[in-house]
Amino acid sequence: MAEFKLPANSVVKEGKFFKNEEAKNKRVFKIYRWNPDTGENPRYDRYEVDLDACGPMILDALLLIKNTIDPTLTLRRSCREGVCGSCAMNIDGTNTLACTKAISSVPEGEIKINPLPHMHVVKDLVPDLTHFYAQYASIKPWLQTDTATPPRERLQSIEERRKLDGYYECILCASCSTSCPSYWWNSDKYLGPAVLLQAYRFISDSRDEHTGERLDELEDPFKLYRCHTIMNCTNTCPKGLNPAKAIAEIKKLMVARH
Ligand code: SF4
Ligand code: FES
Repeated sequence: MAEFKLPANSVVKEGKFFKNEEAKNKRVFKIYRWNPDTGENPRYDRYEVDLDACGPMILDALLLIKNTIDPTLTLRRSCREGVCGSCAMNIDGTNTLACTKAISSVPEGEIKINPLPHMHVVKDLVPDLTHFYAQYASIKPWLQTDTATPPRERLQSIEERRKLDGYYECILCASCSTSCPSYWWNSDKYLGPAVLLQAYRFISDSRDEHTGERLDELEDPFKLYRCHTIMNCTNTCPKGLNPAKAIAEIKKLMVARH
C-alpha cells in the first residue's frame, strides 16, 4: 500500500454540515476527513443522523451516512461483530471498534470520530497499517518446530492450552498500539503492545520449540523495553485483553534466563 502523509503543517479545519431537518431523534457525528488526492488540509464534516432510521452501533451510523448522505466517506469494516478488527478508530477520544461501540454509550453532544491516532492516514478514517503488519510478521506469528511432525497433531494438556487464554483472542485491531505514547514516538523500532502480545502468545505455546530464539529477537532496548507501563493499551483494548501483562511476562522471562 502506498504511504500517504498529511500535508506539512496541516491543520484540521471545519468542513461541511449535512443537516437533516426531518429527523426527530437525531445525533450529530463530527468526522475527520482527508483526501490525499485533493491536496487540501484535513477537515471535520458534521452529519445529522436520524437515530430512528439507524441501527444501534457507531458502525451502523457510519454506514448510514455513507449509504444515504455522503458516499465519499471512507472507512474499513468487514465482520460487524468485533471479530475482524478492521473498524478500529478513535471514537469520542478512545480507540475502539465502531461495530461494538453503541451510539447510546457516547455521552450527549457531538460524537467525534477520528482515525487511529499517530498513524499515516490513507483516507478519512482509514489508517495505513503497513508498518504495523510488517512488525507483526517480524515476530514470526506461527508455530516453529524442529522435531518430526507427529502422525496426527501436536498435543497440549488442558493446562498448557489455558496459558494461551487472554492472548489468542487478539484480533490485531491496533487500538492498543495506537493508544501508546511509546509507540507514537518510537514505532519505527518499538514493536508496541499488540505485536508484543502476539509474540508472547507464541512464546507461551507449549508446542512451539523456538522460545529461545524468540526471546533473543526481543532482547533489544527498543523492540521490548520502550514499554514504560503506561497502561493505555490495556485500558483501551475493545476485547478486554491485557497487552501490558503480556509485555511484563516477556520481561520476566528475560530476567529469568540471565
Ligand atoms: S490486544 Fe486488544 S487492542 Fe490490541 S490489537 Fe489485540 S484486540 Fe486490538
Ligand atoms: S467490522 Fe470487524 S471488528 Fe468491527
